Amino acid sequence: MKLIFLPSVLLVISNVHAFLYNELVQYIDSHKEEYVEVLRDWVEVESDSSDVLRRSDLHRMMEITAQKLRSLGGNVELVDIGEQELLDGQTLALPKVVTAQFGNDPDKTTVCIYGHVDVQPAKMEDGWDTDPYNLTDLGGNLYGRGASDNKAPVLAWIHAVEAYQALSMELPVNVKFVIEGMEETGSNGLDAMILAQQDTFFSDVDYIIISDCSWLSRRPALTYGTRGNTYFFAEVEGPNKDLHSGVYGGTVIEPMTDLIGILDTLISPSGKILIPGIREAVAPLSDEEWKMYQDIEFDIDDYKSKIGVSQLMYNNKVDLLAHRWRYPTVSIHGIEGAFSASGSKTVIPAKVTAKFSIRQVPNMDPAMVKKQVTDYLHSVFAKRKSPNKLKVTMIIGAKPWLADPSHPLYEAGKVAVKRVFGVEPDLIREGGTIPIARTFQDVTGKSIIMLPIGGFDDGLHSQNEKISRYNYVEGTKLFATYLNEVAQIKRSKV
Ligand SMILES: *[C@@H]1O[C@H](CO)[C@@H](O)[C@H](O)[C@H]1NC(C)=O
Ligand SMILES: [Zn+2]
Repeated sequence: MKLIFLPSVLLVISNVHAFLYNELVQYIDSHKEEYVEVLRDWVEVESDSSDVLRRSDLHRMMEITAQKLRSLGGNVELVDIGEQELLDGQTLALPKVVTAQFGNDPDKTTVCIYGHVDVQPAKMEDGWDTDPYNLTDLGGNLYGRGASDNKAPVLAWIHAVEAYQALSMELPVNVKFVIEGMEETGSNGLDAMILAQQDTFFSDVDYIIISDCSWLSRRPALTYGTRGNTYFFAEVEGPNKDLHSGVYGGTVIEPMTDLIGILDTLISPSGKILIPGIREAVAPLSDEEWKMYQDIEFDIDDYKSKIGVSQLMYNNKVDLLAHRWRYPTVSIHGIEGAFSASGSKTVIPAKVTAKFSIRQVPNMDPAMVKKQVTDYLHSVFAKRKSPNKLKVTMIIGAKPWLADPSHPLYEAGKVAVKRVFGVEPDLIREGGTIPIARTFQDVTGKSIIMLPIGGFDDGLHSQNEKISRYNYVEGTKLFATYLNEVAQIKRSKV
C-alpha cells in the first residue's frame, strides 16, 4: 500500500487547490438534517417506472432532479429519449434523462456520475410497516421506497458538489451527471441516448462512477464486477388442445414430461452446469482472487438465517462468494401453460414453455451460450424420440462487466474509504446484472467504478427499504473525498 499512497501525497503537496477535508466533514455533518429533508421530498414522489399510471409523477421526479442540479448552477438539460410502446400498441412518453455539468476546465479530469430516480413498486398491502412514500426516521434508519435504490446515493453526490461550493472550494474535477428514470424497468431509451451523445456529452468524460449497489457487510465496499444474464424460453408443443388425463393419459407423449426431462439435464443437484462448453468458457479462479475472497467480511450463518435455509450449495466462504459472483448458474423460473392454480385438475397441457436463465461471467459470450444451450437441448430432446416440437429462444443476452480492482480509480476509492471510514474496503462483485455498466464501457470506452454507499440490509426492491442515516451522511463524505482522490490520478491523455 505504501507505493500507492506515496505519489498521491506528493501530488497533494504540489496541488494549488487545497483540499479542506475537515471543513468538508464539518459542513456535511452540520447539514445532515437538510439532507434528510430533501430525501423526504424525493421519496414522497411515487416515481414507479413500471406503473404507467404513475408516469406524471415520474416526469415530475425528473423535473425535481433537474431543478436541484440547476439550483447549484449546473449546466442542466432534460434530454428527450422518445416514447415507449405499450403492450396494447399505445405509446407513452419516456421520462427525460437529466444531464448536468459542473465545470469544464480542460486541464481537469472529468467524471460522470450515473444514477436513477425511478423506483420499484411499493404498497402498504405488500407488508410495509410504514407508508413507503412517507420517509420514516426510526432507530437511525430512513425507511421509504427508493431511499437506498437510488435516491439517497444520487442526492449524496449532489450534496458532495454542494459542499465544495458552499465552502468556496474549487471542484478538483469536472463533474457530470446522467440521471435516468427507467432503470427499474430496463433503462428503456438510455442505450440510444448514450450512443447519440457519445461524441458530445461523453466525449470529454474520463471516468464513469455508478453508485447503484450495496455493501456486502458493515464494511464499506468497492464493486468491480457484475454478472450478465441470458434468459431462455423452451417451448414444447404437442396435441392441438389440452387433454383429459383419464381419457388420453397413457396414449399420448406428454409435452410436460418432455419439458421436465430436458430441464433436468441443465444442472446437476450439486450445482454443476451440464451444458457442454459453458464451464470451459469461465475464467479460472486465480490465487489472487482466492486471497481477496478470503479477506472479505461475510458471515455464512447470517446469510443462511436471512434467507431461511439450513444448508447451502457450498459451506465455505470462498466457494459461496465465488459462485455468487464469478461463476455462472442456471435458475429455472417457471413454466407457462402448466396448471398452477390451487386444487387439482387432471389436465395434460398441450403446450408448455419453461423460463430459465443463465448468469454470465467472463469469458462467456451470450451469443455462444445461445448456441450451446439450443444445440444441447435439441440433442437431449432428440434422444427422447418424442413427436412433440421443441423451440428454444433466448430473449435476453446481457454481458457481464468486470473492472480491474487495482486500476487507479479503485486505488482512489481505497484511499477515500480509508480516510472517511478508517478501514480498507472490501473488494466485491455483484451476482446480479447492471447492464448499463457494460453499455457505458462498450460505447464510451471509459473506465468505470462502482462506489456503493447502500447498506447490506437495505432491502432494495423489498418491503421496508431503507438507508441508514450513517450510510447517507458518511456516504456523502466519501463522495466528496473521492472527487479529490480521483483528481490525483495522472491523466494518460494529457
Ligand atoms: C407521514 O408520517 C408522519 C408520521 O407518522 C405523519 O405525521 C404525517 O402526516 C405523514 N405524512 C403524510 C403526507 O402522510
Ligand atoms: Zn437501482
